[in-house]
Amino acid sequence: MKNLVLLGSTGSIGVSTLEIVAAYPERFRVLALTGNYNVDALAQQVRRFSPRLVAVPDAARAQVLRELVPDRNVEVLSGLQGLRACAALAEADLVVSAITGFAGLEPTLAAIEAGHDVALANKETLVAAGALVTSRARALGVRIYPVDSEHSAIFQALQGQREAQVRRLILTASGGPFYQSSPEEIERATPEAALNHPRWRMGKKVTIDSATMMNKGLEVIEAHWLFDMPEEKIAVQIHPQSVVHSMVEYVDGALIAQMGVPDMKIPIAYALAFPERLALDLPPLDLCTLGSLTFAAPDDRRFPCLSIAREALRQGGTVPAVMNAANEVAVACFLNKTIQFGQIAEVIRATLEQHSPSAVTDLETVIEADRKGRQTARRIAAAKENAQ
Ligand SMILES: NC(=O)c1ccc[n+]([C@@H]2O[C@H](COP(=O)([O-])OP(=O)(O)OC[C@H]3O[C@@H](n4cnc5c(N)ncnc54)[C@H](OP(=O)(O)O)[C@@H]3O)[C@@H](O)[C@H]2O)c1
Repeated sequence: MKNLVLLGSTGSIGVSTLEIVAAYPERFRVLALTGNYNVDALAQQVRRFSPRLVAVPDAARAQVLRELVPDRNVEVLSGLQGLRACAALAEADLVVSAITGFAGLEPTLAAIEAGHDVALANKETLVAAGALVTSRARALGVRIYPVDSEHSAIFQALQGQREAQVRRLILTASGGPFYQSSPEEIERATPEAALNHPRWRMGKKVTIDSATMMNKGLEVIEAHWLFDMPEEKIAVQIHPQSVVHSMVEYVDGALIAQMGVPDMKIPIAYALAFPERLALDLPPLDLCTLGSLTFAAPDDRRFPCLSIAREALRQGGTVPAVMNAANEVAVACFLNKTIQFGQIAEVIRATLEQHSPSAVTDLETVIEADRKGRQTARRIAAAKENAQ
């Protein structure tokens, strides 16, 4: 029996994870759950999975949750302290990190500091603080299992191989909803169009990141830290069918790809049960019906966020944390319709131009870089809004 803590249980990854847990009650026990706004869904999850602890960031919502489950023997915590307490729960075997954005960093670090293995969906953790997180995980013997489908694919393609014999990693990208759009259409794209991802149903923030291709930029940084691979050895290829989830190229020219239907349950289940595979109730991938698979180079001109992220990784230090902060602010402004789609990259670039990079020595440096990055990005986004 594996004891799980699920950070971000009310989100897209969280719900898929609980579906797997529900299908395998003899394998997994849920010790703790966390959510944010969706207190009703969290209350239902408490009833269904009987965790000992739950937490939400806000004290008032924690009280609402207590009132929704008065008959349950569950402790309801609030604030960052509460999230950290769930992550660090002593009996946990694996902590699933599926909060969205920078908010996932501190709870994930708390899990690592408690010595718990982590199934990591929250890529922003490694983008903002990759050096810190991976060095603490190494020092404490903690394993980080990737949940992101691309990184899970690479992790799977590395099994039984020698990492020293890897020539490069190839991350695939669907291209998002605007893959075929003109620069003018992209510039004016609405939140509704950007949220209409052709292949994956995900939370709003990661869906917008997919449309700008920042998601692939974040994933290049994530791959750098997870697999200790330099930026120039991490390629990106557009693959609109989204069935080749990523590939590893070895020194002899062999290319090992992991394929499957685009469903996050596959990488989640692999991270939950590694090294075993769980039988999942999904349709098989039928390559004959699919007919052909295509691959193309990304277009930096229409989607500049990928090269912004690559440059941030090359610069290192606090730069990726500031880029991540600016991206989170810009995406929120776009969803609130205060800036245009094409201005997301402009806000990020302008924020980075105003940042004086420094080395990341500790968590406080990262938190401060994030705070300042958000402040600058909000100011830049507000100026754009006023200019419209
Ligand atoms: N969805 C995918 O297919 C997918 C694939 C690969 C990687 N990922 C990564 O996995 C992470 C989660 O993505 P998602 O699509 O599952 O996102 P999502 O559907 O938006 O869910 C996010 C979860 O985090 C909680 N949350 C949001 N802000 C929070 C905060 N400030 N403090 C504490 N909890 C907070 C949400 O609570 P409420 O819902 O209660 O507000 C929800 O439980 C992201 O880092 C994303 O990039 C997702």
